[in-house]
Amino acid sequence: MPFLPLRKIPERATRNVATEWLDGLSAALADASTDRADLCRRTLTPLFFPQYADNWETAVEDATLDHATRLALAAMDPRNVTLEPEYYGDCDDERFQRVKPLLWLWYSFDRTPIGGQNVWLGVELRRILAKYIFKRCGDNFKAFQNVEFSFGYNMDVGDNVVIHRHVLLDDRGCIVLGNNVSVSDYANIYSHTHSIVDQRDVTNATTVIDDGVRITYHATVLAGVHVHEQGMVGAMAVATKDVRPYHVYVGIPAKSVRVKPNAPASRNVLRTSSDRQT
Ligand SMILES: CC(C)(COP(=O)(O)OP(=O)(O)OC[C@H]1O[C@@H](n2cnc3c(N)ncnc32)[C@H](O)[C@@H]1OP(=O)(O)O)[C@@H](O)C(=O)NCCC(=O)NCCS
Repeated sequence: MPFLPLRKIPERATRNVATEWLDGLSAALADASTDRADLCRRTLTPLFFPQYADNWETAVEDATLDHATRLALAAMDPRNVTLEPEYYGDCDDERFQRVKPLLWLWYSFDRTPIGGQNVWLGVELRRILAKYIFKRCGDNFKAFQNVEFSFGYNMDVGDNVVIHRHVLLDDRGCIVLGNNVSVSDYANIYSHTHSIVDQRDVTNATTVIDDGVRITYHATVLAGVHVHEQGMVGAMAVATKDVRPYHVYVGIPAKSVRVKPNAPASRNVLRTSSDRQT
């Protein structure tokens, strides 16, 4: 296979405007007295409805505007929307309400003309927000568009982690991502599961993805699974059990088909009793 590192491309002409916009957001978030719901609304309204940016409150109450416009305007403020985790019995509401405005800003930005597939700005914005949403967010975090979380506050993320498009990170029971982890497009990582008898019987279990792991396209990792260092879950695989270090697992349920050629000798052998079951 050819070696194809990412290219460097010229900065866009709007880089200074974007940097100032991001700096303003960063400064507001760094100020503990900032009302995050207001900040979200003040950030989103000019993006969606610039004509109402200076009179948002009166416009929402304006009975001469049609209902849809007023509802769309109201949704700029996260207090006027409900997110699915708010209905979960195990949601720590105090923690969730702290991160909800930032999640709503993240998700909504992805639906704006300047968001979506606009790579540089989106990555920079999400990097800022992740620091205030996650339990821990290491350096150089990179998330592309349409990533979704459950609580967000149960994400424990190391350095140089990349999350690609349309990934679901269900951190209800906690997700730990080590350093240099890559999660490819449309992958799902879960940390909660339901009883097959009673849907309301929910088990949360921490899912751990160790350093250097790649969860590839459309793969799913079930709750409580530990994908060990440098392991790989192949396209469309469903990891129902732990993945051994340096092993490549494919299929449903995922099984090891090979050991990566860079595995140290000690990792290449891997014959513990739990290994033998997989
Ligand atoms: C997991 C993967 C990397 C394995 O590649 P590989 O080490 O070159 O493995 P091979 O292609 O030699 O396949 C080994 C066997 O597993 C099978 N296999 C490979 N990938 C599979 C998959 N995703 N699902 C089911 N079976 C798979 C192959 O058919 C082959 O079976 P066989 O021995 O019966 O013929 C690759 O198939 C894959 O899923 N790639 C997509 C994701 C990717 O490249 N991500 C990188 C960016 S994050």
